[in-house]
Amino acid sequence: MKECNLSWVFLISFLFLFFDPSSSHLLNSTAEYHHGHTAISDFRVINRRELDDCPDLNPYLEVNISSNSALSNEEYVTVTVSGVLLPAESDWIGMISPSHSDVSNCPQNAWLYLQTGDTSTLPLLCHYPVKGQYMTTDPAYLKCEKKECKKYVKGVCVVTTCSGSLTFHVINIRTDIEFVYFAGGFQTPCILKRSSPVSFANPQMPLYGHLSSVDSTGKSMKLTWVSGDNKTQQVQYAGGKSGTSMVTTFTQDDMCGSKLLPSPAMDFGWHDPGYIHSAVMTDLEPSSTYSYRYGSGSVGWSEQINFKTPPAGGSDELRFLAFGDMGKAPRDPSAEHYIQPGSLLVMKAMAAEVASGNVDSIFHIGDISYATGFLVEWDYFLHLINPVASQVSYMTAIGNHERDYLGSGSVYITPDSGGECGIAYETYFPMPTQGKDKPWYSIEQASVHFTVISTEHDWNEGSEQYKWIQKDLGSVDRAKTPWVIFAGHRPMYSSMKGGLLPVDPDFVKEVEPLLLNNKVDLVLFGHVHNYERTCAVYQSDCKAMPTKDKDGFDTYDNSNYSAPIQAVIGMAGFTLDEFSNNVDNWSLVRVTEFGYVRFHATRQEISVEFVKSDTRQIKDRFRITK
Ligand SMILES: [Fe+2]
Repeated sequence: MKECNLSWVFLISFLFLFFDPSSSHLLNSTAEYHHGHTAISDFRVINRRELDDCPDLNPYLEVNISSNSALSNEEYVTVTVSGVLLPAESDWIGMISPSHSDVSNCPQNAWLYLQTGDTSTLPLLCHYPVKGQYMTTDPAYLKCEKKECKKYVKGVCVVTTCSGSLTFHVINIRTDIEFVYFAGGFQTPCILKRSSPVSFANPQMPLYGHLSSVDSTGKSMKLTWVSGDNKTQQVQYAGGKSGTSMVTTFTQDDMCGSKLLPSPAMDFGWHDPGYIHSAVMTDLEPSSTYSYRYGSGSVGWSEQINFKTPPAGGSDELRFLAFGDMGKAPRDPSAEHYIQPGSLLVMKAMAAEVASGNVDSIFHIGDISYATGFLVEWDYFLHLINPVASQVSYMTAIGNHERDYLGSGSVYITPDSGGECGIAYETYFPMPTQGKDKPWYSIEQASVHFTVISTEHDWNEGSEQYKWIQKDLGSVDRAKTPWVIFAGHRPMYSSMKGGLLPVDPDFVKEVEPLLLNNKVDLVLFGHVHNYERTCAVYQSDCKAMPTKDKDGFDTYDNSNYSAPIQAVIGMAGFTLDEFSNNVDNWSLVRVTEFGYVRFHATRQEISVEFVKSDTRQIKDRFRITK
């Protein structure tokens, strides 16, 4: 993927689609086009604006940070701006990393950046801030409640200045940071003052360890973590065993895009990921609890963490959680390039589930971090999922926001990954796939065979992935795993309202027959940001309806198999999508709430509950029996 040759055909067709500076209606329609699909935020438009030098000769201005010593791995940093002569509503602070990055005028022409879906026509900051906040977040700032006299004449104060303080949630992103005080708002920023740079106490610290399964035995687990250190480290586990890490990384040159049309990932969104370590813990027992720590004597060790191995394929009982489209959100009042507002509460609720010991594994089926070319956001995402992903297997599928980019071989020609083209995703989440950029795999846990595909790679009949799906589904031993769950990112059935058609009829036409022919029980997709469940459906026809059990819950009888049951579960963080008023009869349940789905599979039954994250209420419940 080192060179993603962006062909002229793509370039011209893309520009034809998006570039018409004279047309304001195009801006609206482009925003609509990208709603829910591509990163746009108020904050992102910073990159489109001309940055003037502020004509501010204020000699009293200072930007001070609460931690002037080295930063810990996670802290809330208070940034105080003092010496302000005239506080304005448009003043704001950006967190920049590494320090001294160029956040002034960028020489590139703005139309090179149309690919991110923003048709603004102005130049940009050359290096994107990690996050930013308006000074008005401090209510005392505009009112100048914190006054200071800077100059006295004959005992009378003749110059009074104001100050304000903001708090930023800072995690160890290895590179040093500084805080930059801007005037002019996000739309027309200019730099007033930069703070002194501040470094992390240990930029090499091993952090953000997360687990995944490498096979269906439940006896091996892979731990993947991030460190600023490129030497091998160790995972020490199960009271005396150890595994040595494989170390990898990716560089700016690995990102997609071209010099002609740089992507966010290869240009203003780049942030050095440090080194990604993976080590496999072996000789474990399935469904068992152990502890581990990771790191090395020279760079430090994580704390001791308890984790659970999943049940072995063929055993009886599995409890897992699944969802799509989670992303992350700031834990302070900052704006970031892309925020998924439901993610924090969904993660909090799932962390409580994992802490209760009732979760064997987790499946996150695409649209993982929404870093989309703003790479520092992967660190924040890994930090967010750490409470669950460090304790149980966190399995993933690839989504459009990890993979798609023009000219990169993705099925859908969109710039949704911001130029990451799956490189960052595959490095952070090394699944037991068929190979590099072949992110499809199967895994068995207890009574369930999971077939996980990429909707972003060719699934047409005859393609490598299609043949693999056919072979994988065809080879399931139902005596060992009575249930087959098929998962990917883009749905086959959705009643989402308006916007782009979320369902690709070609995908349905090619792949749905494989599901029916191989008696797939349940199909899970994301991409659409709500919860929806179907009847037993094939080619949009209900082949069977569930019946009510004694408690009034829908029960599908798969001992008399008719067709797969499909569910969209993309409601874990991204702003929710509304449903259409006119729904087809295959759509049985529709919920527009943030949450996750809880599964309990035995050999006779899968019970499914959609949990609303803020209240933990069950908003839908159904069973499939055999
Ligand atoms: Fe998506």
